[in-house]
Amino acid sequence: MNLAVIHGPNLNLLGKREPEIYGKDTIDDINFLINDYCKENNIEVIIEQFNSEGDIVSFIGKEQYDFLIINPAAYTHTSLAIKDAILAVNKPSIEVHLSNIYKREQIRHESLIAPAVLGQISGFGKYSYVLAINYLILTNQ
Ligand code: DQA
Repeated sequence: MNLAVIHGPNLNLLGKREPEIYGKDTIDDINFLINDYCKENNIEVIIEQFNSEGDIVSFIGKEQYDFLIINPAAYTHTSLAIKDAILAVNKPSIEVHLSNIYKREQIRHESLIAPAVLGQISGFGKYSYVLAINYLILTNQ
C-alpha cells in the first residue's frame, strides 16, 4: 500500500495562519504525526504540499500511489481540474479538512471534490488525517 498525502495551498503556513481556525501545529508537526502513524501501521507514505493547482493535478496524474488523502484547501471550493484528475486516475481517495467547512462561510460549504472521493473528513484538526489513515487500516487496503 502506497499512500500519498497532498496538502493544498497555504497549508505550508499552518502554525501562524489563523491559528484560532487551524490550530497551532505547523505542517511539519502534522507530517510528523502522519509519518509516525503510517510507520506504526506499515504503510508507505509520501507527503507533498503544493500551492498551485497545476502541480496538484500533475502529481495526481503521475499515479505514483495506491491511495490518496487530499486536503485541497481553497481548491476544494473551486477546482474542477482537481476533481477531474481524481476521477481520471480512479484510485480510492479521501478528502480531509482541518476545520469543519460546514461551520464556516457559505462559500466553503460546497466541495467540488467530494463527489470524486470515497468520503470526506472535516473538522478534526490534524486528526482528520489520522482518521482517514484509519480507514485504510480498518479496510486492510
Ligand atoms: C481547509 C478549509 C478550506 O476552506 C480552506 O480554504 C483551507 C483549509 C481546512 O483544512 O480546513 O485552506 O481545507
